[in-house]
Amino acid sequence: MTDAEITIHRDATIGHVGPELHGHFSEHLGRCIYDGMWHADEADGTGYREDVVDLLEALDVPVLRWPGGCFADDYHWEDGVGPREDRPRRRNLSWAQGSEQVPEESNAFGTHEFLDLCERIDAEPYLAVNVGSGDPQEAADWVEYCNYDGETDLAERRRANGREEPYEVRYWGIGNENWGCGGNMTPEQYAGEYRRFETYVGRTTRHLVDHDIERIVCGYREPEWTRKLLEAFASGPRGPHFPFDHLTFHRYYGRTISVPEADDADYDQVLAEALATGDRIERIAATVDATATTRDVGVIVDEWGAWHPEATADSGLEQPGTPLDALSAAVVLNLFNHHADVVTMGNIAQTVNVLQCLVETDGEDAWARPTYRVFDLFTPHRNSDAVTTTVETPTRDLAQAGDSDRDDLPLVGASASVGMSASVGSDDGETFVTVTNRDCRAAHTVRLVVDGVDPAAATVDAEVLFADRAPDEVATAENADSFAADQLPVETDSGVVTVELPPATVAAVSVR
Ligand code: AHR
Repeated sequence: MTDAEITIHRDATIGHVGPELHGHFSEHLGRCIYDGMWHADEADGTGYREDVVDLLEALDVPVLRWPGGCFADDYHWEDGVGPREDRPRRRNLSWAQGSEQVPEESNAFGTHEFLDLCERIDAEPYLAVNVGSGDPQEAADWVEYCNYDGETDLAERRRANGREEPYEVRYWGIGNENWGCGGNMTPEQYAGEYRRFETYVGRTTRHLVDHDIERIVCGYREPEWTRKLLEAFASGPRGPHFPFDHLTFHRYYGRTISVPEADDADYDQVLAEALATGDRIERIAATVDATATTRDVGVIVDEWGAWHPEATADSGLEQPGTPLDALSAAVVLNLFNHHADVVTMGNIAQTVNVLQCLVETDGEDAWARPTYRVFDLFTPHRNSDAVTTTVETPTRDLAQAGDSDRDDLPLVGASASVGMSASVGSDDGETFVTVTNRDCRAAHTVRLVVDGVDPAAATVDAEVLFADRAPDEVATAENADSFAADQLPVETDSGVVTVELPPATVAAVSVR
C-alpha cells in the first residue's frame, strides 16, 4: 500500500462552484425521453414516469439541457405544443426513439412537458434552438413563447396551452455541434449564422421584463476550429463583438473500451482519458482568452461522459452503468472544481438510459446508477468556493495512452471547496473534499492536511462509494442499492485526517 498526501489551501480560492457544474443533458434519442422520462404509450394526460421524476428530484438536478444534441438542429418547437392529439408525427433524422427503436418523433413530449418537468424537479431549463434546419424567426418565437408576459399571439398561445406565467427560461443554446450534425459548418459560416440568430433572439429579449437570457455559442473540442470561430467574431462587420455569455464544447472518452471486457490497463486508460478533460478545458479557455476573455465568456461542457463501444445508434446509445464510469465522473467533477474560474456549466450525457446516464429504466423498474451516487456525493460542493489542492500521489506508467496524451496516471486525485453548503446545512467555513482513488488494483492510505485547521478540534465526517464493488460490476434494478455510500472511518491525529481508500473508490470528507 502506498501513501498519498493532499493539502487543501483554504485561502487559495479558484472560483465559485455554481450548481450548474453538476448539470444534465437529455435528448430525443433512444429511451432517454420516451420510456425514460415519459411513458411512450401515453397519448394524453401527464405521461411522466413518476419513479424517474422522484429520482431526479431527490438528486436536486440544477440544470437540464434539452432537446438535443443533434436532435436540436432537426427540431421545430411548434410541433411539440398544443393538444397532443394534434401534434404532427415526424421522422427523427438523427436517432431512433423509445424501446421500439422507431426513428420517428411523436412530439408527445414538447416544450410544456419539458419546462413543467424542470419546475417539478426545481431544475433550471436550458433550451437549444435549431440553427441547422431552422431559422432565426423560429428561434426568436420560441424565446417569446416561453418568456414573454405581454399580449402577443405567441404569449396568448402559451396561455391557451395551459401556462399563464412566462417560464423565464434563462439558458439558450444557439445550435448544437454546428461543426458536425448541426449543419456541417465551417467556423466562419457558423459565426455568420450565430450572429444572424442572435440578432433576433437578442432583440426579442428586450421585450422581456423580468430577466435576461444567457446565450451559448457552440465551440468544437479541437481548439483550432474554435479559434477560427472566435476570430470571426473578433473581426465582425462592425469590429470585435462577442454576443454570447458562454462557449460550449463536448467531451466524450472511453470510446474504444468495453468495460465488461476490459482489463486493469483498460481501466487506467479510461480514467486517464477522463483526466484529460482538464487539458481540454484549459485549451478551450486559452482559446477564448486569446480573443474574448473568460471573464466575460464562460466555458460550458454541455455534453460529457463515458461513451463505450456498446453505445451505438442501434442500441439507442445504451451501455452498462458501472463503478468505473462513475469513478470517471468523479474525476471530471473534481476537474470542474479545479477550473471553477472558467467553467460555468457541465451537463453529463445523458440523464436517463442513454450513454453515462444517472437513471436507468426497464419496464416498470427505475433505479439509480453508480454515477448518480457520485453526483449525490458531490452536492455539498455547490455554492461553495473551490480552493486549490496539491496532491502528492504515486503514479502508474500507462500501457496505452488512448486519447489522453498521457504516459502516466496519477493514482489519487482530489478537489476541495470552502463555504456555506446549504444542501447539507453545515456551518460557514466547512471544508469539503472529494477524493478519487483511481487505482483499480490497490488501496491507498490518504492523508489530508487542511491549512489552518486542526482536525482533532473539528468535526470530521467521511463517506466512500464502491468500497465493496468491482469496477466492472453492472448496476441493475435488483442490486442498485448496494452502490450507495458507506461511512468511511477517519483518523485525526497529528494535524492530519487519514483515510484508507479501497481500489476504484470515491470519497467525500467534510471538516468543520
Ligand atoms: O449525446 C449523443 C450525441 O453526441 C449528441 O446528439 C451530439 O451532440 C453528440 O455528438
